[in-house]
Amino acid sequence: MTIGIIGSGALGASFARLLAKAGLSATISNSRGPASLADLVNELRPTIKAGSVEEAASADIVLVAVRWVDAEKVLGSLPAWDGRIVIDGTNPVAFFDPATSPDAQDASNPLAAYGIKAVDLGGKHSSQIIGQYVPGARVVKAFNHNDVNVLNEPDVAGGKRVLFYAGDDAAAKAEVRAIMEAAGFIAVDLGALDVGGPLTSLPFGPLSTHNFIRM
Ligand SMILES: NC(=O)c1ccc[n+]([C@@H]2O[C@H](COP(=O)([O-])OP(=O)(O)OC[C@H]3O[C@@H](n4cnc5c(N)ncnc54)[C@H](OP(=O)(O)O)[C@@H]3O)[C@@H](O)[C@H]2O)c1
Repeated sequence: MTIGIIGSGALGASFARLLAKAGLSATISNSRGPASLADLVNELRPTIKAGSVEEAASADIVLVAVRWVDAEKVLGSLPAWDGRIVIDGTNPVAFFDPATSPDAQDASNPLAAYGIKAVDLGGKHSSQIIGQYVPGARVVKAFNHNDVNVLNEPDVAGGKRVLFYAGDDAAAKAEVRAIMEAAGFIAVDLGALDVGGPLTSLPFGPLSTHNFIRM
């Protein structure tokens, strides 16, 4: 089972570190090309290597770790998915400068002061939209519900940290669960994509940003 990562920022790099700690191999990519990933690859050798987006996207399991605004463009030009697994690690949020943007004055947005706003999804949930960008893929929503720093800490406060996943394909979910467990986390299945996905999605999913520890 090969693993690819699209995006090498906070989430992509943290996921690569999680995999490397678990002894799992992966190809990581970003918009600037493999040479820009030399430091990360050096840190995580020999399990993590850099590749093009197309190389990462050709893996059996592909984590999408790009910002929401970039997802359609990144995913729109990739080879056929043919039943491969896409882990949707995105959250439907957009960022703005709270010092200069008119969005900072939006009284209906409780996160305006932080420069964060929810993206209008037109009544859909985010993984439905990601699913449209990756036709034929088996989508599992995971690794999105909390700050990426928690991905470095499966063992915490004398217990094990919980990670959530949701999806419509049992075999795909089992693969994602296996990654979480190999990395030392407690993996909790939240059911179907349109049930579990919205529960964990930032900014307002009821399970988002909460830390759960199994003692
Ligand atoms: N940050 C968190 O704590 C966190 C936690 C959970 C979920 N998430 C979600 O994870 C996603 C990524 O967040 P992040 O914080 O990791 O963002 P980030 O640090 O800004 O990283 C985004 C990555 O996407 C890459 N990218 C952008 N356009 C691309 C393209 N056309 N082709 C290939 N790669 C492209 C960037 O490449 P370059 O490096 O070349 O610019 C960068 O590596 C978001 O949807 C976010 O909501 C984030």
